Amino acid sequence: MSEILRIRGGAKLEGTVPISGSKNAAVAIIPAAILGDSPSVIHNLPDIDDVYSFVKILRYLGAEVEFEHGTMRVDPRGIDRFELPDEMVNRMRASYYLVPTLMNRMGRAAVPTPGGCNIGNRPIDLTVNALTSLGSRVDTTGGVIRAEKTGDFGGSNVYLRVPSVGATINTMLAAVMAPGRTTIFNAAREPHIVDTANFLNSMGAKIRGAGMDTIRIEGVPVLHGSDEYWVIPDQIETGTLMIAAAATKGDVYLSGTIPTHMESLTAKLLEMGVDVQSEDDVIHVRSVGDHRMIEVTTAVYPGFPTDLQQPLTALMTVGWGRGRMTETIFENRFRYLDELNRMGADVRLRNNAAEINGVEKLYGARVTATDLRAGAALVVAALMAEGVSEISGVEYIKRGYEHIDEKLRHLGADIEYI
Ligand code: EPZ
Repeated sequence: MSEILRIRGGAKLEGTVPISGSKNAAVAIIPAAILGDSPSVIHNLPDIDDVYSFVKILRYLGAEVEFEHGTMRVDPRGIDRFELPDEMVNRMRASYYLVPTLMNRMGRAAVPTPGGCNIGNRPIDLTVNALTSLGSRVDTTGGVIRAEKTGDFGGSNVYLRVPSVGATINTMLAAVMAPGRTTIFNAAREPHIVDTANFLNSMGAKIRGAGMDTIRIEGVPVLHGSDEYWVIPDQIETGTLMIAAAATKGDVYLSGTIPTHMESLTAKLLEMGVDVQSEDDVIHVRSVGDHRMIEVTTAVYPGFPTDLQQPLTALMTVGWGRGRMTETIFENRFRYLDELNRMGADVRLRNNAAEINGVEKLYGARVTATDLRAGAALVVAALMAEGVSEISGVEYIKRGYEHIDEKLRHLGADIEYI
């Protein structure tokens, strides 16, 4: 019988909760350590399944890895493999960061095409095009991405059709050791892009402009390990807990945050009538009355993040009037609406937008998470609902949220894994 998350709704969340390291930075920084000719030490890594998956993968490749209490030491010098078996990587989208890193270290890589949350068809054409323009021979037939450096491997101009997070990171991971200059145009600007660039620069890379839409890279022949690096706090965990605080009419302090990463969500919560204040690395969320209905459209950073679309939609189901959540990044990121409606919400999907009729309250139910952030949406809904909810599909939640049950219980929620 697989684990489920049991939540009795109604408790106000109150108190202080620490934010963990960023999943989407961690899953780029850990493979980046492969590029070093000496060990790297990485701090503030979240205790989540995706990090443990990378520990297994790096050990399989021949690296020495120790990971405990959020700190990982990676010594890549023993790596003597460039191929990975299906079962190690097919669940995680970030596994394709191993392509440019193994290709730089070993001359070639063979990595099964990445898995990841089923929120759309998740193509990899932008990465393939970028690596090709840098002078790699890339083949993706048979469900494996095979990449090999050719004699022309070197800096190039890379134009991204869309500001893809994964393609921006993969291009950086390849170009940092490609002789000459690489310029990435229309690059993604998410905080975890900047964190990955900062980590690579701490290894001796020469990357300028990360966080803007044009990134310039001077290739270097060798990278050393990063002596000590601290991963940034998780923007999406921060947002999810801010939403949960508002959803329970609570009063919560989130510590160890970067408030500027949260500006688009903060603006939307203020528009709903939630009180949000921030000082230094603390964000204070206090719900002071009925929530107003709003309209939200997801966009690339610094716009409203698609990863918070699902938890915020859950919050928006309770209130007076009509709201709308429009998803512009992924084609199929609303599968959880049926589950919310089973809890008493009144949401319809039309042209990749959730049309919401506010209801007075939600009711606990047995529901199933279909992806990581859908799981987060169901947790938010269950915290708001009257009665008990049982959420299955918790393996998704454990991939991306460090001890979410402990953190919410510490704030007063009636929640447990059973
Ligand atoms: C990253 O996925 C995140 N995953 C996702 O978070 C996040 O939702 C997404 O960025 C957008 O912010 C990791 O960082 C591990 P994209 P990624 O490439 O890199 C299209 C979570 O919940 N596209 O920016 O796959 C694509 O179809 C996960 O933590 C192409 O067309 O996202 C999508 O419509 C879910 N060709 C859009 O770009 C490509 O080669 C954005 O995708 C690549 C992407």
